[in-house]
Amino acid sequence: MSLDKIVALCKRRGFVYQSSDIYGGLNGVYDFGPLGTLLKQNIRNAWVQSLKETDKDIVFFEGAILGSYDVWKASGHAENFNDPMVDCLNCKKRYRADEINLEKPCPACGKKEFTRARQFNMMFKTNLGAAADEASIAYLRPETAQSIFTNFKNVISTTRVQIPFGIAQIGKAFRNEITPKQFLFRMREFEQMELEWFCKKENTDTYFKYWIKEREKFYDIIDIKKENLRLQPHDKNELSHYSSQTTDIEYHFPFGWKELEGIADRGNFDLTQHSNQSGKELTVYDEQTKQSYIPDVVECSVGVDRMFLMVLFDAYTQDTIDGQERIVLKISPKLAPIKAAFLPLTKKLSDEFLPFYKKIKKQTGFDMQFDVSGSIGKRYRRQDEIGTPVCFTYDFDSQKDGKVTARNRNTTKQERIAIDQLETYLQNVLQ
Ligand code: GAP
Repeated sequence: MSLDKIVALCKRRGFVYQSSDIYGGLNGVYDFGPLGTLLKQNIRNAWVQSLKETDKDIVFFEGAILGSYDVWKASGHAENFNDPMVDCLNCKKRYRADEINLEKPCPACGKKEFTRARQFNMMFKTNLGAAADEASIAYLRPETAQSIFTNFKNVISTTRVQIPFGIAQIGKAFRNEITPKQFLFRMREFEQMELEWFCKKENTDTYFKYWIKEREKFYDIIDIKKENLRLQPHDKNELSHYSSQTTDIEYHFPFGWKELEGIADRGNFDLTQHSNQSGKELTVYDEQTKQSYIPDVVECSVGVDRMFLMVLFDAYTQDTIDGQERIVLKISPKLAPIKAAFLPLTKKLSDEFLPFYKKIKKQTGFDMQFDVSGSIGKRYRRQDEIGTPVCFTYDFDSQKDGKVTARNRNTTKQERIAIDQLETYLQNVLQ
């Protein structure tokens, strides 16, 4: 399985497009088409649902994308969020110094003339308002987490949450990656789903383990193949500046085992830093000890887009049915962008079948398609490629027996179902 096949499928079927495509494209930035938008939304919903289904207290939050210099100074990103960069002096191509062998010639032009490695800060900088002075500088957030920390006191004082509890956020993050690559794997504009779990220091380790287990469960719920996932604890020298222990959930991408999600013990680093920088107390009061303290944080952080890519890789299957090769996305019905396709065998039967489609679509609220164009075989292939779990075909017998043919995406097995049972049938398939 190659990345090219996924990229081609995404473009062909309207999942993902290169951003600014008609102007030559913007490197590391992507737009999501109609099916991609649905898949992304289903991924977000599954993540939110998985948090709601725990017995834990978790509130949701939506922070701003722009943050002041002070936020990123306190978080350590202004100083530490760097990648080492080198340029080829001959062809001007730029590399991450830790990703190429500087003893060998430039992979692009074959000359061996590099600049010395410099630290490159990955945050996007901008100015607020007309004055481009020091005071107007702001940054696009490189992670969503910081707005949760800076609002920690606001959330505590405006809700009834008490330690231990979580604040969860889904939102855009931006990193000026030196070498964006592998499609949605490393982008410059992407989206994160982050849970910051606040707890007492003595419980941090227990919750660190607890959240690793919960996150593993999540991947099981969305049907990701177990053999493609593994836990990878960080060595001390790999840890981010804020973390004292981190375990990644890695996925076996075609380009190797790579980080999908990080679970990090951030201790009380962030709240302490923000408290020092702002001069505001970011503590909670412990009724038992009668003392105030800064809680610890366990973080679960995953990219929506990276998960999107992982889901496609995991589901992409090529098989042969009745001597014919097909591509099928064996994606979890929970994530499938289109839940069912309604296919009249011929155009003549459209008018009879359309009212059933409209009624069921309205009643269930599911994203579904009504498709009359092309042979029935072609329409099945189209739906297989986008991962539609079931197709309902209305034929000339349907007029007599009030039944349609339900075709299962994975097995291609067909069975006759009464039209008035379709909604129940669909609910069962999608469970
Ligand atoms: N708040 C912690 C944090 O941001 P991270 O490991 O830098 O940690 C968390 O990022 C997750 O965000 C990664 O595991 C990955 O899924 C996603 N991610 C990070 N950088 C990305 C990029 N350039 N493109 C797409 N996804 C990215």
